[in-house]
Amino acid sequence: MKKLSIKLGLVFFLIIFGLEVSMFFFLHSALVDSRVEEELIALQARGNSHRDILEKNFDQMTLSHVALMESEANTDVVVTDKNKNVLDTSLPPQSVEKYIKESSTDIPREGIIVEEHWKDEAYIATVSPIQGQHAGYVYMFQNTDSIHALIDRLNKHFLITGLIAVALTIAIIIILSKGLVKPLNKMKAATAKISKGDFSVTLPKTGNDELGELSKSIQLLANDLNYLRKERSDFLASISHELRTPLTYIKGYADIVQNRNLTPGERRNYLNIITEETKRLSDLVTDLFDLAKIDNNSFVIHKEPIDLPDFIRRIEQKLTPAFQEKKMKLIVHCPTKLYVLADPARLEQILYNLLDNALKYSKSGTFTELTVHINDQDVHIIIKDTGKGIPAEDLPHLFNRFYRVEKSRTRASGGSGMGLAIVKELITAHGGTITLESDMGKGTQLDIRLEGALLNEDDLTRG
Ligand SMILES: Nc1ncnc2c1ncn2[C@@H]1O[C@H](COP(=O)(O)OP(=O)(O)OP(=O)(O)O)[C@@H](O)[C@H]1O
Ligand SMILES: [Mg+2]
Repeated sequence: MKKLSIKLGLVFFLIIFGLEVSMFFFLHSALVDSRVEEELIALQARGNSHRDILEKNFDQMTLSHVALMESEANTDVVVTDKNKNVLDTSLPPQSVEKYIKESSTDIPREGIIVEEHWKDEAYIATVSPIQGQHAGYVYMFQNTDSIHALIDRLNKHFLITGLIAVALTIAIIIILSKGLVKPLNKMKAATAKISKGDFSVTLPKTGNDELGELSKSIQLLANDLNYLRKERSDFLASISHELRTPLTYIKGYADIVQNRNLTPGERRNYLNIITEETKRLSDLVTDLFDLAKIDNNSFVIHKEPIDLPDFIRRIEQKLTPAFQEKKMKLIVHCPTKLYVLADPARLEQILYNLLDNALKYSKSGTFTELTVHINDQDVHIIIKDTGKGIPAEDLPHLFNRFYRVEKSRTRASGGSGMGLAIVKELITAHGGTITLESDMGKGTQLDIRLEGALLNEDDLTRG
């Protein structure tokens, strides 16, 4: 944990420190340069004004006056004739002799800088030419000690400001990297808890940035895992219950057939029950197997063009006897020419399940309608019964595995509650949808929507 905050802090610090140092360096040298330039300009201006005075009154008194003025200031003057012989000076001339000797004699009226290297030299210097009858030069000097003192003061200010800036940078970086790493540590602890199987984590909301999103995703993952674990244990409980019920019947009736003296009629009756329950068990295992394949994504849908009118007619023929037996009617409406791309075995399974429900949950004397029509390039297969209907509070759960409206399961009434769950998965696997509406006491209507309705079989195979 500490490693990340230290790494982040160090990287931030190095970047900001580097920026600060280069900015300070740039500012410092710009300030020093401009300060020295100001000094040189002032020195030059002072030399020019002495020169102007000497051009007007070139006599010994003026010369002495100029030298006297400079001996009182922190600058100095040396006045020479045109051959660089010293006429008057405010400082010992030998200390500045080399600057006078080395300077050029071809000087413009506004003067030139003779020496500007304040770092290595004892003086900075300028010269202004005296023109006219008494030609000569006015050399101005300024001791660089004063410039050094000035720069030292500037350096001190820079050092104090620099130290404050670095301290502030470090403080800000510590606060920022801690703020960044703290939620990460919480998430790390949460994921460690999840990986140990404890899904009861609660992460604080940290806003809408990337960290907040990550925190939300981890929370969602924990909630989902929690839900899945509960669902799995519910599912296992349901499976064992569903398997145990028919097995109890089978064992019970088998014992009776074995141990009692029964009339042939009774014996046949009990053996029929055993056969029925065995079939129910085998259906249940098939359903579970289908669902396991769907969950595993190893479930393959083999779509092919289905001639719907023909397909529906065959289903009608197979199921009509069962409806007649219960004194119910199955009415079919289907266009004469209509094709759809679907897996025929699965579509048959879907329709059987839904028609089986209509048959099981309706009273004799009622009727069930199966209507096929096209809407917006989609095929709709609608199954509408006039049975007992489903209470509104059960509607949201009907497609859950093992969900039944009547919780008590008797041998005579109802199946295992797997039918609609499988139907929904199969339709979803086809890329279609199913919707259910029901009115208590009036009946139930299911609407299956499958994509890609066409009137011509060739269009379907090509499409
Ligand atoms: N057409 C319908 N009319 C009234 N109730 C229905 C209808 N279809 C389904 N139900 C209710 O919804 C529940 C779930 O139906 P589903 O088909 O999933 O299971 P099942 O019929 O009980 O068992 P299975 O289909 O696995 O044999 C049923 O138990 C029943 O109570
Ligand atoms: Mg059913």
